[in-house]
Amino acid sequence: MWESKNIETNTIHGGKKSQGEFGTLSTPIYQTSTFVFDNVQQGAQRFAGEDGGHMYSRLGNPTVEELEARMALLEGTEAAAAFGSGMGAVSSAVLALLKAGDHLVTSHRLYGCTFALFNHQLPALGIEVSFVDLADEQALRAAIRPNTKVIYGETPINPCMTVIDLDTVAAIARQHDLTTVIDNTFMSPILQRPASHGIDLVLHSATKYLNGHGDVVAGILCGPGELIDRIKMTTRKDMGAVMSPHDAWLVIRGLKTLHLRMQRHGENGQLVAEYLQDHDAVEKVYYPGLPNHPGHALLGRQMRGAGGVMAFELKGSFEQAVAFINKLQMCKRAVSLGDAETLIQHPASMTHSTYEPEELAEAGISRTLIRLAVGLENAQDIVADLGQALSVAR
Ligand SMILES: Cc1ncc(COP(=O)(O)O)c(C=O)c1O
Repeated sequence: MWESKNIETNTIHGGKKSQGEFGTLSTPIYQTSTFVFDNVQQGAQRFAGEDGGHMYSRLGNPTVEELEARMALLEGTEAAAAFGSGMGAVSSAVLALLKAGDHLVTSHRLYGCTFALFNHQLPALGIEVSFVDLADEQALRAAIRPNTKVIYGETPINPCMTVIDLDTVAAIARQHDLTTVIDNTFMSPILQRPASHGIDLVLHSATKYLNGHGDVVAGILCGPGELIDRIKMTTRKDMGAVMSPHDAWLVIRGLKTLHLRMQRHGENGQLVAEYLQDHDAVEKVYYPGLPNHPGHALLGRQMRGAGGVMAFELKGSFEQAVAFINKLQMCKRAVSLGDAETLIQHPASMTHSTYEPEELAEAGISRTLIRLAVGLENAQDIVADLGQALSVAR
C-alpha cells in the first residue's frame, strides 16, 4: 500500500489497495452480504481467525476495509472501524470500553444524541457518568474516581465551538491509565489529528466533512489495532451498526477532495464569522478563528484551521431569531454540517432538543443561539443571504 508524507496526497492515494482485476481507478463496490468458502475446512479456518479471508459483511467487507485503511492512515492510527452512523461508532466504542460499575468522565457540552446516550442509556446499564468542563484541567482532575475508565470529549464542541486542549486530556488520562476518545467530526484529519496528541480513539460522524456531499449517514473510529479489532469483533459485530459497501464507496470518493473542501470551508467560515461579528444585529459569534474566542489560542498548536462551523446569537428576541432563519433564501434550514450547501439550524429545538431546559442553560445553549455550517458557495453569496435575512432582526 502506497503512502505519502503529505496528507493531501494520502486523501487520494493512501491506503488504496492495488487495482482490481480490471485495473479500475475507482475502488470496486463489493456489494455482497456473504462470501463463498471452497470447503468446510476453509470456512472453519476463517471463523477461527486462522485465514484472513472474508466470511460475512457484518464481520468485514473489502470496500469498507479500504475506507478503514485510508482513515487509519489519515488519522495516524494503526487501524480503523467503519460504522453505519456516527452514533453507531459512539455507542460501539463506549460499550466496548465500559461495563456496569465503571465510570465515564465526559464533557458538559456534547452533540445532543451523544449526550442522550450518556445521560440516559449508560446509567440505565449501571455505568456512572460525570459531565464536566473538559477545558478546565482542575475540573477534569477532580472528576476522576477509582472506577473511572474512559474520558470522552468533542473538540471543538457542538455547537459553541469550545476547544479542549488534547495534550492536557491525554496527559491526565495517561497518569490514571484511562482510555481517551475524541470526536473529531468538526475538524477532520486535515485540521486536527488527535492521535498525534496522545488520544487513543478518534471518532467521526463520517456523515459530515469526510463524505461531504450530504448523501450518506456513516461513522468511523480510528485507534490502536488491538482495540479496534476488539470493537469490530464485539460491539460492532453483535450490535450490528455496520457501514454498507456502497456508503463506504461514497465516503472514499468524498475523501479525495477533503483537503480542498476543508480549505474552502475554512476560508468561507472566517469571512462569514467576521461579517457576523461586525453586524449590528448580532450579539455574539462563537468561532475559533476569531481572536476573541477562547479556543483561538490552540490554532496552530492543535488545529490547522478553524473549519466551517460557527454559532451566533442575535440581539433580538427568540421570535426574531426564528424570523431570521425563515427568511434565508440560499442557505438551507437543515441539521448536519460539512456539506457543499450552507446549512443553518436552531440547536435548542433541533440537534440539542435531547437536553432539558436547565441542561441547555448549563451547556450555554440559549433559545436565540443559531448554528451555521458554512458551505462551499462563493462567500459573498452566503454573506448576501445572511444580510438580507438579518434585516428582520434589526
Ligand atoms: C459532533 C457529532 N458527533 C456525532 C454525531 C452523530 O453522527 P451521525 O448523525 O452520523 O450518527 C453528530 C451528528 O450531528 C455530530 O455533530
